[in-house]
Amino acid sequence: MARRPEDGGSTCHSKRDGLICSAMVLFPRGALILAPMVGITNRAFRTLIHELGEADWYMTEMASAEALLSGGRNEAIYLDPSPCPDRTSVQFTAKSPETLAAACKALCKLPDERRPAGIDINMGCAAPHIKGTSRGAALLDNPALARAMVEAARANWPGLLSAKIRVSTKGGEDGTLRFAQEIAAGGLDFLTVHSRFDTQKLRRRVNHSFTARLAAELDIPVVANGDISNSSDCHAVLSSGPIYAAMIGRAAVRQPWIFGALRDELSRDRTTRHPLKPNNGHDLLAIGTRYIDLVEALLPPEWQRETCRRVFSYFAEKVSFAHYLKFSLINAPSLEEMRRTLIQYFNEVPTDRIV
Ligand SMILES: Cc1cc2nc3c(=O)[nH]c(=O)nc-3n(C[C@H](O)[C@H](O)[C@H](O)COP(=O)(O)O)c2cc1C
Repeated sequence: MARRPEDGGSTCHSKRDGLICSAMVLFPRGALILAPMVGITNRAFRTLIHELGEADWYMTEMASAEALLSGGRNEAIYLDPSPCPDRTSVQFTAKSPETLAAACKALCKLPDERRPAGIDINMGCAAPHIKGTSRGAALLDNPALARAMVEAARANWPGLLSAKIRVSTKGGEDGTLRFAQEIAAGGLDFLTVHSRFDTQKLRRRVNHSFTARLAAELDIPVVANGDISNSSDCHAVLSSGPIYAAMIGRAAVRQPWIFGALRDELSRDRTTRHPLKPNNGHDLLAIGTRYIDLVEALLPPEWQRETCRRVFSYFAEKVSFAHYLKFSLINAPSLEEMRRTLIQYFNEVPTDRIV
């Protein structure tokens, strides 16, 4: 089992289950991690985040172990760990420990520049096509299968290994705590907790006090996720004691510069802390058009419009006429038209451009 790393430090697993592992560096305590988001946290979006202030660790959107093994034509894109392979985990869903083990072996064979530093197992997605095939949140109610998944990955993956869970509606908090202990003992290096029930979608506030309870009980680092969107949220989570790091999803799509901004904010003396300034000079037009450029350069044509639509539906929330801009972007028939829409909007409402 992974040791809890020193504050700000790194950990090195020299031997595990007969596998000699390469030295690996875990992100430091207090790290800010980009959450996995389907259709969003692909290479283009991660590059944008990296350019605007860098997350300490990145998660890809979820990929299917079975699709990888059957040679799905987009798998190389799902698994692409750029721009920071040494700070990126690929998130997998898998139907069985065998397919997860085979996917781990396949990743081990990739050349260094295309091999991610970590693998994350999705144990929280409640979408019917995932849960209905014993994947994602279905694992929360099947601890034996979930542990077998972790053990299969651990035996075939020398890099960082993590899982992301929600709270089981059936098992409740106590059942989820026992579940977390079970999978941690299977060989996880860290665990992310999105502390909502698996049936709750993104409704209601997340319950970080349960995450803190889990963090106090487990002997692996626990990462808190859910509704962390400014320095107060972040400080509340990280100062609660046992929680090791924070993972941010939707707020990073609304404000792709959030990681650098939060890091600056949190490193300030606590007596001079103030909420994340809304006026620190981020140019929404430049960021939006840069994102379109990255999508065009890095993603296959059939993905480009959809991923822009997903990102812009959050990104546009910050402006005065959010509904208008969002629907103009979503309905734009091409990337070129999206660029024109952004330029036109900020020409018409120049006071919205710098935030
Ligand atoms: C559009 C979208 C796609 C998501 N896709 C994934 C995914 O692929 N894997 C996963 O574990 N969670 C996924 N999630 C959940 C997020 O990782 C995160 O747990 C959730 O959004 C709560 O965090 P936040 O409040 O910081 O957004 C997704 C969420 C959104 C909004």
